[in-house]
Amino acid sequence: MRFTLRRITVLVLTVVSLIMVSLVLISSFSGSYFHRIDKLASEKFDEVGFRNSNLKVRQDFHYSKYVFSGTESFINLFNDDHEKIKSIPLNDKCMAFFKNFEHNNPDWEFDKYDSKGMQYDKDIDKKQRFFEENQKRLLSQRKQDGEPNADVITHEDNKTINVIFKSQVEKTTIIDQGMADTITMMRLYGKCFLNNPDVKETELYNSFTSKLFPYLHNTIPIFETSNSTDPLPEDSWPIYNEINDDYDVVHNAFNSSTDNFIDFIKKNSKGRGIVISATTRHSRDVVKLVRVLRALNNKLPIQIIHKGDINKRSMEFLDIAALADIDFLLSPSISAEHRDFLPELNMLEQYRSFGSEFPKQNIMYVNVANCINRSFKYSFPGYSNKLLALMFTSFEEVMLLDADTVLLMGAEKFFEAPEYKKSGAFFFKDRTLRDYNDFLESNFFTKLMPANENSIETLFDIPLVTEKTLSNKFLTGWRHSQEAGVIVINKVDHLLGLLMTFPLCLWKEPVKSSIWGDKEMYWLGMSMAGDESYEFNKYAAASVGEVTTNPKNKHYSNSKANEICSSHPGHVSSDGKLMWINSGFSFCKKNGYYRDRVKFPFNQYDNKDLAVMFSNPLKVRAALVPPDLPEMRAIGSPIDDTPEKEFKDSWKLRRKDSDEINVNMKDGQSRVDVITDWDPQKGWVKSSVCFGYHYCAYDLVESYNQPDDGSIAYDRGVLFEFDDETSRKYDFLSKVWHTGNSRTRPEGWVYAKMEIRKQ
Ligand SMILES: *[C@@H]1O[C@H](CO)[C@@H](O)[C@H](O)[C@H]1NC(C)=O
Ligand SMILES: *[C@@H]1O[C@H](CO)[C@@H](O)[C@H](O)[C@H]1NC(C)=O
Ligand SMILES: *[C@@H]1O[C@H](CO)[C@@H](O)[C@H](O)[C@H]1NC(C)=O
Repeated sequence: MRFTLRRITVLVLTVVSLIMVSLVLISSFSGSYFHRIDKLASEKFDEVGFRNSNLKVRQDFHYSKYVFSGTESFINLFNDDHEKIKSIPLNDKCMAFFKNFEHNNPDWEFDKYDSKGMQYDKDIDKKQRFFEENQKRLLSQRKQDGEPNADVITHEDNKTINVIFKSQVEKTTIIDQGMADTITMMRLYGKCFLNNPDVKETELYNSFTSKLFPYLHNTIPIFETSNSTDPLPEDSWPIYNEINDDYDVVHNAFNSSTDNFIDFIKKNSKGRGIVISATTRHSRDVVKLVRVLRALNNKLPIQIIHKGDINKRSMEFLDIAALADIDFLLSPSISAEHRDFLPELNMLEQYRSFGSEFPKQNIMYVNVANCINRSFKYSFPGYSNKLLALMFTSFEEVMLLDADTVLLMGAEKFFEAPEYKKSGAFFFKDRTLRDYNDFLESNFFTKLMPANENSIETLFDIPLVTEKTLSNKFLTGWRHSQEAGVIVINKVDHLLGLLMTFPLCLWKEPVKSSIWGDKEMYWLGMSMAGDESYEFNKYAAASVGEVTTNPKNKHYSNSKANEICSSHPGHVSSDGKLMWINSGFSFCKKNGYYRDRVKFPFNQYDNKDLAVMFSNPLKVRAALVPPDLPEMRAIGSPIDDTPEKEFKDSWKLRRKDSDEINVNMKDGQSRVDVITDWDPQKGWVKSSVCFGYHYCAYDLVESYNQPDDGSIAYDRGVLFEFDDETSRKYDFLSKVWHTGNSRTRPEGWVYAKMEIRKQ
């Protein structure tokens, strides 16, 4: 027998496949072998078994293990040759990827992951807790059913719970993979279509736009303004023209049967402006904000984004605040607050001395109700209105404000800040509260980012996130990282990051319980897009108000720490200027005077003084930024949580702050309001006044790293105190805000210009 080339090939192939088959057999055998061990271990239902299970879950779920499901099928198209894939021109690679994906998953579409019985379970790496909860449920069910032995958990019960546990792990694995895959698809969509200047495959682009964003109706919003002689046609897209201080309207702007809305937004968003999402409920705050903007000589146009849920009366008073003459606006006769608060400050006579000119404001109303697919109408939570506002405004460079935000410097200054100039996205940090998150939470969000070498993005030249993102407060274990009352962003440059926030809004778990509203979503969305071009303001949120000077009112009577107790977080620029505060300008957002008068330190006050304090604006004299927190979880989310646990346990050995001493008090125990023997242990200590919005902040805190020699080390924060002139300016602004309650119309005011279109 001669060995022809063909025979050799057949022989080699046979041997290779034999080896492969046996490898598969061995691995599946050993797989089931390990599976059995795993099963034995977890069926012990004791501390060790639970701990091993927790470790295994963290290992299996770790973001470094994530691989996009379609990766293999894609690289197989190119015979597994990574170098070759990297060298193919982008458009060809993109076409191959999306065509292949469509072929394998013809019906794929964005999934809300809200089907019954399929919920992401954040307790799967806390097996003990999972068991305790299920045991409790089982027993209470038995008691209800009147069964005997309703208080005994048997080994069989434990086994049943274990079956439930395993099924929860399986479900969570599926959802975890599916969500990460969705975001990977969006990243490739960004690279191949949205951010690709030479995109060729429009049909594929449009088709994946509808698959990925079925919740966005292919429609532009309706723009309305009373500041224009002609009503704007329904399909117009206004582009603000700085030179004539008016909008140039692009007529017949958008053809929904042929155009791609997301692409349209990317190409046609122009100019700079302020965006506020508002409903009727927010309108009183927005009126006050508009007055402050006038006092700050704001020249930027304003768009108020709504869903048809702001009534005509609210819009009218917003227009009055924006367009009324100064004589009316600052007239002491239109509201009692003018006389009751700082009566010596006659704004009409003195406004020029504060540099204010009160220019009229250009306000436009943007109704986005039609821009959302009706079947998703109730899926967007309330806070997502801000994200929709950012999406649908016609501005390119946007300052997005909460209705209860108060700017203390002109909006232009934010756009001129080095942080914005450098990155096109300027964000603010939250209060450094000592609230932590869980491994599965921070790990989940990291998995949504391009964060490991196995990820398919390396083949598409999409950069992986770096330590900049991975060292974010949130990803290193803390609950609060961003404060979203002000967002300054170039929407066009960072559009993909914005689009990333929509799935976060639509997926309930594990997002909803991990993030407070929209607040972390801006930096998260950008990081998910692989876009790290954002900058946070240097200082974390400050407590803004007055330093406690009366020793009788201090919570730590012998501490050298400065104290500012306030319900207003604020933000100080890198050069020490107060930029903005949150929660309006009232002393307390809801007037809690009556409730709070018996609490420390207000029980030391004269009742009349206290009532005045509660009904007046906050006095801004200083801002205190407490010291930063150490890392809670190491960068890269290690599987071993011992250091994290030890750190948390070490808090129990520290002395207690007043928000820890006075919880779970026993009968007869009395509150401790004043601590005489030690210093603050945390930078932010929650106070019981003002409905839980109030915190006391400290600039000298006992450090988490204490030297061995018995001396006490401190972490230091920063105190900013404002001079008299600056303080007077803040008083002036507070009065401008505070006097905005009037519901009077200027004489001769005609309000017939705006046609409110019915939805
Ligand atoms: C059932 O599980 C618990 C842990 O949740 C354990 O303490 C207990 O010993 C187990 N009972 C039996 C009978 O296996
Ligand atoms: C609206 O959403 C549904 C459900 O995902 C989808 O079937 C439909 O095509 C969407 N409609 C539009 C106009 O996008
Ligand atoms: C529109 O706003 C500008 C300021 O941007 C103002 O000067 C002008 O009077 C307003 N026009 C109308 C019709 O209200």
